[in-house]
Amino acid sequence: MPETFYTEKEYRELGRKYESVHYVLHRICQEREKKVNGVNKKYYAYIPNSTYRVIKELHLVLGHLRKKDNYRTPNFLDVGSGIGMIMELAKRDFASPSGIEVDKKLIEEQKSLFGQQSIGNVHNGDALKYKEYNKYDVIYYYVPIEDKELERKLERRIERQMKVGAILIANSKVDLQIQKSKKFKRLFNGHPIYEKIRK
Ligand SMILES: C[S@@+](CC[C@H](N)C(=O)[O-])C[C@H]1O[C@@H](n2cnc3c(N)ncnc32)[C@H](O)[C@@H]1O
Repeated sequence: MPETFYTEKEYRELGRKYESVHYVLHRICQEREKKVNGVNKKYYAYIPNSTYRVIKELHLVLGHLRKKDNYRTPNFLDVGSGIGMIMELAKRDFASPSGIEVDKKLIEEQKSLFGQQSIGNVHNGDALKYKEYNKYDVIYYYVPIEDKELERKLERRIERQMKVGAILIANSKVDLQIQKSKKFKRLFNGHPIYEKIRK
């Protein structure tokens, strides 16, 4: 596992490369979402986050963690990992990126896009029932659940279970109690990145 992290220049280059993939995926997913929403309003269909934003966030988090005395390569979890693009972006600088994904078809798509080994750490199941959030150093999500109450429930579950010292990258967060919580510290202005500082 390399002990490097993205420089400003590298993350721009990588972002440019993945942004075109992101654009195509987004068009496909918009179509798919229209179909899925007709049937099941509970879950968002796969909508990829902006690669620029994600790479910037990973860069900031790694920079923060590497300043710690006890630094070791952090592990990583994407909650609602879709086709595994975020896991793919994280694999250079994080120890064996993991994912949870409810939609089996997306895991199949991940396998054909990124290979069998890419799905080794993907748990096919419901993030609302997952019990191992305390295993991760960095937890990422991009609003997996469309139903606001269920999304809130998921966000609180993650915040309750994650360990002290772990970092949450919470894109398009629904439940904002974290901003007032004494258990969490917001690390960067303009980015929804929080560190759990007490139990
Ligand atoms: C908005 S997409 C985000 C995809 C990816 N994390 C990203 O940032 O590009 C949300 C993903 O969460 C998955 N999802 C929705 N509800 C879920 C649940 N309860 N448990 C696990 N995955 C879920 C969807 O299938 C979809 O792939």
